[in-house]
Order: sequence, then C-alpha cells, then structure tokens
Amino acid sequence: MSKKWTRNTAAMAAILSALCLSTNALATSEQAVADENQTTTQQEGMRFEPRNEKFAEAHAEQYKSWKATQESEEIEDALEGDPNMVVLWAGYGFSKDYNKARGHFYAITDVRETLRTGGPTDDKSGPMPMACWSCKSPDVARVIDDRGEDGYFEGKWARLGAEINNAIGCSDCHNTGSEEFAKGGPALQMSRPYAERAMETIGKKFEDQSRFDQQAQVCGQCHVEYYFTGPNKSVKFPWDKGTSVDDMEVYYDEIGFKDWTHGVSKAPMLKAQHPGYETWREGIHGKNNVTCIDCHMPKVQNEDGTVFTDHKVGNPFDRFEDTCAQCHTQTKAALKSVVATRKASVLEMKLRAEKQIIAAHFEAKAAWDAGATEVEMEPILMDIRHAQWRWDYAIASHGVHMHAPEVALRILGTALDKAGDARAKVIRLLATKGITEEIQIPDISTKVKAQQALGMDMDKMNAEKDEFLKTIAPEWDKQAEAREAKY
Ligand code: HEC
Ligand code: HEC
Ligand code: HEC
Ligand code: HEC
Repeated sequence: MSKKWTRNTAAMAAILSALCLSTNALATSEQAVADENQTTTQQEGMRFEPRNEKFAEAHAEQYKSWKATQESEEIEDALEGDPNMVVLWAGYGFSKDYNKARGHFYAITDVRETLRTGGPTDDKSGPMPMACWSCKSPDVARVIDDRGEDGYFEGKWARLGAEINNAIGCSDCHNTGSEEFAKGGPALQMSRPYAERAMETIGKKFEDQSRFDQQAQVCGQCHVEYYFTGPNKSVKFPWDKGTSVDDMEVYYDEIGFKDWTHGVSKAPMLKAQHPGYETWREGIHGKNNVTCIDCHMPKVQNEDGTVFTDHKVGNPFDRFEDTCAQCHTQTKAALKSVVATRKASVLEMKLRAEKQIIAAHFEAKAAWDAGATEVEMEPILMDIRHAQWRWDYAIASHGVHMHAPEVALRILGTALDKAGDARAKVIRLLATKGITEEIQIPDISTKVKAQQALGMDMDKMNAEKDEFLKTIAPEWDKQAEAREAKY
C-alpha cells in the first residue's frame, strides 16, 4: 500500500548541495553535536537567541514558514464543544477554560489569555507556577541557561512574565549559536534539560540518536506527558517505568502523586497533558520511524528551486503532495476518509467513557453525603482516578486518531472498564446506606450550565483576567523590550 519510501532523498540531496554542506548529511549533524560545547564557549550568550525575527534574513524560507503558523489563528473552545469536560476537571484549572491547540506563533498570547493562569496582580500571586511557561518560548531555554533550572522554576508564573515573551521558535529546536546553523544546517538540539534527561531515562540519549529520532525528539520536548514536582514545581516526564499509559499510571501511584482532588468525588486525580510523542511511538508510523517531521515539516521547494524544511507545522493534509503522498499511493480523499472514520470512532468511545466516569463522580459524591468513610471510598476513588487518567491520556494527545487510533481505542476501552469497576463498587456501597434509586446528575448540557452546576464564579475570573491583560501584561512587554534592546 505504500510507495517504496525513500524519505525525500532527492529533496535532501538538493538541500545539502544548496547549503554547501559536507557530502555526508548525518556526519554533519553528528559533528555539529560534538562541536556544540566548543561553539557555546566561543559564542557566549548566543546559544539560545530567543528572538525569532533575528533569523528572518539569514534563514528567510524557514523564518517565513515558521511565521506562517500565525495563519492557524482560530480559537476553538473545547469546553463549549464538550461540556462534560468541565465536570471531569472539576476543581482544576482546565474546567475554567480550555481551547484546542493552534499555531506555535500564538503560544505566549494564549498562555497569557487563558483563565487557567488567572489574573496575577504581582509576581507572587496567581494560581500557576513558573513551570507553565515551559513549552511556550525559547526564552525558557535562555533563562534556564542563565539561571539554572531552579533559578527558572522557582515561584509563581507571574514572577518572570517580563522575561518570557517570544513564542515557540528557532532556539527551541536549534543550536542557533552554532556554526552549522549559521551555514544553514539544522544543528538540532534539545533546549530543555529536563526533556534531555527524560530521553536518557528511556534509553534515547539525544546525542546518540539517528537524525530521524532527533527530529521527533525536538517535538517530544513539549508534546509529551509531564508533571510538576519538588518544592519548585519543576517539570518532570513520568517515564521512569516506560512511556505507556500503564507504565505511567504505576509510576504515579507508586510515588503517590496527584494533580488535584476532584471537586465532586474527592478522588485523587491525574491530569494527562498531551502525550503525543508517546502515543506516536506506539502507532504504526512511529513503529516505522516515520517522524513528526515527515508529516508536519516536509522538505519543499520555493519558486527558484531552493529546497528547505517547511516550518509551518499544522495539518499535513494541507500539503498532501509533500507529506502523505511521498509514501502512499492512495488519493487525498481516500486517506482523509480513513482518518475521518478513525476520528469518529475515537470521539464515540471518548463520549461513552465520559458518560460513565461522570456518573461515577456523582455517585461517589452521593456516597460521601450518605456518610461513607474514607476506607470505604478508597478503592472506588482509585478506580475513578485510573479511569479518568486513561480517558485523558487517550484524548489529550492531539491528533491521536491519526497518530495511533488503535492505541487510543484500547486505552479508552480500559477507561470504560475501570469506570465500570468504580460504579459497581459505589452502587453496592450506596445500597448499604439504603440508597438504591438512580443518582441524579445536574444539567451540564452546556459549558455555562456545567460551570454553574459546579458553583464556579466565572464573572470574577474573567474580570481578574481582563485587569491583568490591561495592566500587568503590557508592563511585561515594555520591560522585555527594554531588556532585549541591550542584547
Ligand atoms: C519545533 C522545532 C523547530 C523550530 C521551532 C524551528 N525549527 Fe528549523 N528545523 C527543525 C527541523 C526538525 C528541521 C529539519 C532537520 C533535518 O532535516 O534533519 C529544521 C531545519 C532547519 C534548517 C536547516 C535547513 C532546512 O530547511 O532543512 C534551518 C536553517 C532552520 N531549520 C531554521 C530555523 C529558523 C530560522 C527557525 C525560527 C524562525 C526555526 N528553524 C524554527 C525544527 C525547528
Ligand atoms: C517549546 C515547546 C514546543 C515544541 C518544541 C513543539 N511544540 Fe508544537 N505546540 C506547542 C504548543 C504550546 C502548542 C499550542 C499553541 C497554542 O495553541 O497557543 C503547539 C501546537 C502544535 C500544533 C497545532 C498547530 C495548529 O495549527 O493547530 C502542531 C501540529 C504541533 N504543535 C506540532 C509540532 C511539531 C511537529 C513539533 C516538532 C517539530 C513541535 N510541535 C514542537 C509546543 C511545542
Ligand atoms: C504519518 C503522519 C504524521 C506523523 C508521523 C505525525 N503526525 Fe501529527 N498529525 C498528522 C495529521 C494528518 C494530523 C491531523 C489529523 C486530522 O486532520 O484530523 C495530525 C495532528 C496533529 C496535532 C493536532 C493538531 C490540532 O490542531 O489538533 C498535533 C499537535 C500533532 N499532530 C503533533 C505531532 C507530533 C508532535 C508528532 C510526532 C511525535 C506527530 N504529530 C507525528 C499526521 C502526522
Ligand atoms: C515517510 C513515509 C510515510 C509518510 C510521510 C506517511 N506514511 Fe502512512 N505509512 C507509512 C508506513 C511505512 C506505514 C506502515 C504500513 C506499510 O508499510 O504500508 C504506513 C501506514 C499508514 C496507514 C495504514 C496503517 C494503519 O494504521 O492501518 C495509513 C492509514 C496511513 N499510513 C496514513 C498516512 C497519512 C494520512 C499520511 C499523511 C498525513 C501518511 N500516512 C504519511 C509511511 C508513511
């Protein structure tokens, strides 16, 4: 079913000659890694140039296509689309506000504007820690390089708001201070030390990987599952036991970690982030080492024949000829329809799992209200925790219906099973308290109604956010401008 795929060999050859690099592409990037330390000391402070526009001239095509991620500007309110999620995340930031992903260009705007980061009034207020900047900006790499990880992570999100102002860009993925990069070579690098360590934990030390593995790893700095740990709430990937949903569940249980206590059931919950790298690895393309780059950043040609990597990560179907069609002979319509069918199946199982988990949350609440003890509730709450972790892991990996639909469907199946266990146990417990009728669920048919049912004061949160965006955020921009003028 697939063409004899050679991974744009011709394009690669063209790009290499165009860039006047040495004849051996792989040797070049490996050499660059070996040279990295040397380069860093040679060009102190340049290793993480955060300002993307600094590369607009030297790497015009890459810069232009990177900037074109701003064309993916639509904000899609995920809670509006599926109000169940308000209840599933009750008591946690995601129940306030959750939009689907859009272009990398908007990362800073979006993290400032989401209600999840609240309306801090100074550098010590607000609900979130510094860690919330971690996947938004090359300034994160710069600050870690300057101050060390603790110097970056400590304190609240607002503490370094004036330091983190450039959206996801060149220095997140490239050693922009290296000679290789200056000459037009990729010089890929991991810019987050915690991600580098995690890759080593799973036996994939960046320096030792092939070019294709490294390409996926740069995306895997951010499109992964992670949690916040220690006094400074530093980012860690929970990969010590492996990267499957089961491995990570065991890991979290053993260290007794919870992200929050559920607002309805009081279960000790886990929030899956977006384990895209992990689920991709388990899917058919990952197993064949077809990487994120093959589909999201293909090699393309401009009008004058220059071959370059298209940096507009977005939907690969938008450039079908440069992506899927490099390896597959089917038409765009045929492959789109395969993916659409899978998307519909994942969505169906997602909604079915949600229905059961929501019922379990409200039944657990009824049991507490009827005087259940912690000992009685413990096994029920653990089943709820596991059910929802699995549901979240499956659907929080954006694009999972494309990357690994069979993985998502299996995980959603196990989520349903765990929710079934929780409900059987809690209904039996309720019966011992004399409650045998069905537990009523409030009207949660829209985002507004679901937030009302949980007693959330949205007006207050919106007012605080508006105030922050009017007063603090512009101040951050001014300070950042003054700081950058001195570089
Ligand atoms: C999210 C990661 C990421 C970001 C952000 C990023 N790049 Fe790249 N870049 C890549 C990858 C992956 C490649 C392809 C590497 C390969 O071919 O092995 C690449 C290739 C390149 C190359 C080598 C020539 C080519 O086109 O293949 C240059 C130069 C480059 N990028 C410049 C930039 C500039 C300038 C920016 C910022 C405006 C930027 N990149 C932002 C990941 C990134
Ligand atoms: C520094 C962290 C970071 C890195 C590295 C990164 N991403 Fe992202 N990516 C994000 C964030 C954050 C968003 C959501 C941005 C928003 O909605 O404001 C996102 C969004 C996306 C989207 C959705 C875009 C859209 O238009 O809807 C795609 C696709 C994507 N990333 C692919 C990739 C690929 C492929 C790589 C590796 C080449 C990569 N990302 C590397 C953080 C990162
Ligand atoms: C075989 C091709 C392929 C590979 C490999 C691949 N993707 Fe995707 N990805 C897609 C397609 C196609 C979509 C859009 C699916 C759709 O249209 O429903 C997508 C969707 C996404 C989205 C969601 C975009 C959104 O707006 O919801 C993100 C994020 C993403 N991919 C990141 C990655 C990362 C990170 C990797 C590597 C770890 C990766 N992808 C590997 C083809 C691929
Ligand atoms: C670099 C090559 C490459 C690219 C690019 C690529 N694929 Fe694939 N694809 C493969 C390989 C290898 C397989 C494994 C099966 C095989 O050998 O035919 C596969 C399998 C598949 C399958 C069948 C596997 C299953 O899950 O049942 C589908 C569907 C598919 N690809 C869709 C896509 C779509 C859609 C795109 C573009 C967004 C894409 N592929 C891009 C190489 C590629």
